[in-house]
Amino acid sequence: MKLLRTPAELIKWSENIHRKGLTIGLVPTMGYLHEGHLSLMKRAKAENDKVLLTVFVNPSQFAPGEDYRSYPRNLKRDKRLAGQGGADAIYAPKARTVYPLPYRTYINVEELSGVMCGVRRESHFKGVTTIVGKLFNLSSADRAYFGRKDFQQSVIIGQMIRDLDFKVKLRVLPIVRARGGLAESSRNKYLTGRQRKQAISIYQSLREARKVILGGERRADRVRDQITRRLKKAGLSVDYVTVGEAKSLDSVKVIGKNTYIAIAAFCGKTRLIDNMLIKTTRHIIL
Ligand code: PAJ
Repeated sequence: MKLLRTPAELIKWSENIHRKGLTIGLVPTMGYLHEGHLSLMKRAKAENDKVLLTVFVNPSQFAPGEDYRSYPRNLKRDKRLAGQGGADAIYAPKARTVYPLPYRTYINVEELSGVMCGVRRESHFKGVTTIVGKLFNLSSADRAYFGRKDFQQSVIIGQMIRDLDFKVKLRVLPIVRARGGLAESSRNKYLTGRQRKQAISIYQSLREARKVILGGERRADRVRDQITRRLKKAGLSVDYVTVGEAKSLDSVKVIGKNTYIAIAAFCGKTRLIDNMLIKTTRHIIL
């Protein structure tokens, strides 16, 4: 497996692959790999000749006071797991080579970046779309793999690909969960044993919502209130519970086809997110 450290090295690697007529599947991550990341790599491996994993804790998507400095980093561990996951190369650049000074250009997907996670984390998605746009450009990947765990992020990237004519094909894959149902996340490392148990109530609240919807409930506010109560009872501090339309992210009053329910909640200082997708009111995926 090749370790690529600079934009120039990545361009050279990907050009070489495309020259041979082979395809590249891109899996962007911030590292500290877990089963969720591995599922993306495995799918990328199945659908492409070469898999490019990127590991970069992207400073521009963290606001001052957030966990940029303490975000878990372990490249040695990531290299080992990436090898097991079938990656052919890892791009792990230094921040100063990604954002050479003076740095002045950003991608911003309007509207979609200002709701849900974008309310509390105001410039977060601008940082995400900028780095992902850069990775698309540098790698010229044929396909790019993202998790539905970060549902809003996947919708925003889909919009960016359409609006800016990126030629990459977007693949959004299911949420991988640990035992008990907690969605895998690098930030789960911050949780104590007790907090982990509390955090499972996020998944449980979604399961309970699924049950009432399958039982016929269609009023979004009722379902939202039920989830909020459940999370508070477990001792979590709720950032938002949104019931909305899966393409526009607009809130809805009535639950129907293509409605999503997304949660962001603090467990101690750790902010966790999760969601479920109501394909139809009989087919709900968690
Ligand atoms: P990170 O949180 O490391 O996640 C990398 C990718 O893994 C994202 O597409 C995310 O949705 C996916 N993922 C995370 N947890 C998952 C889970 N439990 N099941 C399935 N997929 C999961 O998201 C980012 O990094 C960054 O914002 C990034 C896109 C790399 C830009 O910096």
